[in-house]
Amino acid sequence: MSKVNVVLGCFYGDEGKGRTTDYLAQTCEVAVRASGGNNAGHTIEFNGKKFAMRLTPSGIFSGKTVAIIGNGVVLNPKVLINEINMLKENGIDVDKYLKISEKAHVIFPYHSEMDVMLENHRIHKIGTTKNGIGPAYCDKYERSGIRVEDLYKASFKEVLRNQVEVKNQLLASEGVSLNFEEIYAEYTEYANILKPYVCDTISLIHKYIKEDKMIVCEGAQATLLDIDFGSYPFVTSSNPTIGGILTGSGINAHDVGDVYGVIKAYSSRVGEGPYVTELNDEIGDRIRELGHEYGTVTKRPRRCGWLDLVALQYAINLNGVNYINLNHLDTIGKFDTFKACYAYEVDGVETTDFSTNEEFLAKAKPVYKEFKGNFGDISKCKTYEELPEQAKEYIKYIEDYTGCFVKLIGTGADRECMIVREK
Ligand code: IMO
Ligand code: MG
Repeated sequence: MSKVNVVLGCFYGDEGKGRTTDYLAQTCEVAVRASGGNNAGHTIEFNGKKFAMRLTPSGIFSGKTVAIIGNGVVLNPKVLINEINMLKENGIDVDKYLKISEKAHVIFPYHSEMDVMLENHRIHKIGTTKNGIGPAYCDKYERSGIRVEDLYKASFKEVLRNQVEVKNQLLASEGVSLNFEEIYAEYTEYANILKPYVCDTISLIHKYIKEDKMIVCEGAQATLLDIDFGSYPFVTSSNPTIGGILTGSGINAHDVGDVYGVIKAYSSRVGEGPYVTELNDEIGDRIRELGHEYGTVTKRPRRCGWLDLVALQYAINLNGVNYINLNHLDTIGKFDTFKACYAYEVDGVETTDFSTNEEFLAKAKPVYKEFKGNFGDISKCKTYEELPEQAKEYIKYIEDYTGCFVKLIGTGADRECMIVREK
């Protein structure tokens, strides 16, 4: 029986997970998204075109990979339909390859309105994407969520009417009043469009595993945005770590094969919250410009800084990462010298132990090791051996520190710019 390969982010998102899945999908037959919603923005570039995927697993771009939106996803149908149309325009046989879990929860306009209202009233702003992700997960856990399969039930109209009424009461103080009839008409149309793709993805995945199909699970968001393991409350409302990938898809622990932890050669964060290696200076600005670090979803400038190996080790331990996918090696190589944080100094004491404790993170000062840059143009390098010595030194340091093999190395924006190493 085949093993499922998992791709997940080690920091605060935007590590380039879409590219990893896109690469793995060239040999995989099935790609699965298990958590989050259209707060994700997975950019992949090929044939000189840039695609920002928010819901559909990037694996669909291989043109021969079944793409599954799993039960753990919160699904905005409007965004998904736009994505389907875009994929079709680009020659992807969506009708053949897309599958949507009937158990996925649906995002309604009141979720986005609630997201905006809650953020406005928060003392410590999170900087959410305002896509209604948190409120949709709230409804799921509070058990008033509407799942994809519910859209096709006779009771849908009354259930939705009730939800719109309840939410309108909560939103009244904001002067927001949503029109039930409009939402109902809109969502009935969406339901019709999406119907052919809806199925029981849990048993489908089990069937694929039995059939020995190669499966890849594309994580969204990232370890430090995890609701349990991230820097709460500055997190997203799901578990982007390994556990969430299993509950969000129905894959069991025994079926997990390799776990790819995706990182950039530096780091970034969108939204509020602690960030030990952040650079609030011209170096941070330079990373942002060189790495094009602007949100795919919200276009917000991302906060940038050096790679944090202390946090990386935490992500590796939590998720059972055995392979690292290091992206943006070309970007870091544009600096004459650059740094990576190998320890924190807390109250004058050096430590390599990570904690999401607020006080700890507020006190932690990064301790850096400096590396030589000036890698030159590495976009044409096809093997690790072809990389300049300085680049290899950096990779070797990451490997020695983490005990993980750096298997995939991103050397440029295009899909072709990826070195694949065998152990
Ligand atoms: P990908 O999959 C980066 C951040 C938001 C905000 C916090 C909560 O592209 O890596 P939410 O809308 O989820 O309630 O916002 O989480 N955030 C992300 N940051 N990449 C993402 O996804 C993110 N998804 C959520 O900026 O700080
Ligand atoms: Mg993103």
